[in-house]
Amino acid sequence: IFNLESWRKMSRIKTDIVTDIRLDSDKIIELKNNNEQFLIAKGRRKTYHILTYGCQMNEHDSEKISGMLTSIGYVETEDEKKADLVIFNTCLIRENAELKVFGKLGEVKGLKRKNPNLLVAVCGCMMQREEIREKVQKKFSFVDIIFGTNTIHELPMLIYNVEINKRKSVDIVDNTELIYEDMPKMRKFKHKALVNITYGCNNFCTYCVVPYVRGREKSRDPEDIIQEIKLLAEDGCKEVTLLGQNVNSYGNNLESEFTFAQLLYAVNEIEGIERIRFMTSHPKDLTEDLIKAIKECDKVCNHLHLPVQAGSNDVLKRMNRKYTKEHYLNLVEKLKEAVPDIAVTTDIIVGFPGETEEDFSETIEMVEKVEYDSAFTFLYSVREGTKAALMEDQVPDEVKHERFNRLLDVLYPIVLKKNQDCIGKVFPVLVETAEDDELTGRTEHFKLVHFKGSKDLIGEIVNVKVTDVKTFHMKGEIKKYGDTPLLKG
Ligand code: 5AD
Ligand code: SF4
Repeated sequence: IFNLESWRKMSRIKTDIVTDIRLDSDKIIELKNNNEQFLIAKGRRKTYHILTYGCQMNEHDSEKISGMLTSIGYVETEDEKKADLVIFNTCLIRENAELKVFGKLGEVKGLKRKNPNLLVAVCGCMMQREEIREKVQKKFSFVDIIFGTNTIHELPMLIYNVEINKRKSVDIVDNTELIYEDMPKMRKFKHKALVNITYGCNNFCTYCVVPYVRGREKSRDPEDIIQEIKLLAEDGCKEVTLLGQNVNSYGNNLESEFTFAQLLYAVNEIEGIERIRFMTSHPKDLTEDLIKAIKECDKVCNHLHLPVQAGSNDVLKRMNRKYTKEHYLNLVEKLKEAVPDIAVTTDIIVGFPGETEEDFSETIEMVEKVEYDSAFTFLYSVREGTKAALMEDQVPDEVKHERFNRLLDVLYPIVLKKNQDCIGKVFPVLVETAEDDELTGRTEHFKLVHFKGSKDLIGEIVNVKVTDVKTFHMKGEIKKYGDTPLLKG
């Protein structure tokens, strides 16, 4: 049910419900009524299709968009060709993400030609950049609605503007103190959920465009987070992933002191939640208290995603990462001491400006020393507006590619070996999807496992014995309690 009153607009200063939302509510009800009329006239509801690019933050934003559209009478369709509304939720982190969106917009142009009633909306990080908005408006002038990462809640009003006022609509807010609570959400999965804890980023790593598009870091109030997770648990959710660009700095701008470690202890108390994950951790803010919390909270998964980005102190400095390789290795050592079977995964950038052969060999060394369970590896991509884009000594493409391949040659055997260590062991696995009788789920370590079983098990945690492994997944079979001693992830 669409409840505008529950869209509390709140900020650190806790302003009360802002009146423009009340003013809007009549229009949104009108829009909803129109959609009901559409159903009566056409015998079907209006449909939407969202194309989501990029990270989990965007995935979760798309869940909010789905929630809003559902509340005004739309239903989702898997087939974009049949949709009345197509939404692009875009990503800007690397050039290829951007190119994908432009390519797909070209395709949708054809759809719009065939069906002039089709509405096309573009949102997400790309739309936070003026020059990209202008490019979309010029090159893809059929786009009806443009909104940004801070104006998702305005979507129904923007649709109203197009449908009723017949006006193309753009709504962007560059940076905001405001956090919108209690927006309707349509979760993709019942058993696992993404939960925002911070928005924005203050770190300004020199390669990264995120702080420019998602604005300054803001933490949600702990009570709002806890309340959301309690409701999720009541609804049958077993696993939550706490989301932020840098979850470790959670609480920095709250009125009263509340740290990320404290938040973990609080979420750990919530009945019904069985697994807690979080993304992303910044090594500079990973405190001893947090390591202790990871150890002590039984629901926090034995997995830490800790982006290292590079292994050379010189490169790390120019990336403005604010830690050294020694500090990073020390953290990993402490983590492994506290939680001996913890899985560590990472992000690595190859070919940052000025990266020498020697710098690169230190990245390789880092991978060998930490023995990552898995890693996302990226070719450095120039992002306009960032400091690194202006640095001299950009690494030539051939060199980047050659180093990238060498990195994978070292990384993959390590990942495979880590998986091989799991053979014969039993792990609790949260079953996520099913195709015929083939189930797929994840261990606490975040390793993907395929095994046979009934699709009724989706959303359940079952014990699976690993029988065979590859680099990117494992195979196993379900074990009952008592068959084999149960290892905790
Ligand atoms: N080029 C390549 N990789 C990047 N990342 C962020 N910005 C860039 C860039 N300009 C990577 C980092 C980050 C991950 C989400 O994306 O590794 O941790
Ligand atoms: Fe980008 Fe660094 Fe912020 Fe992550 S911490 S979003 S890499 S600036």
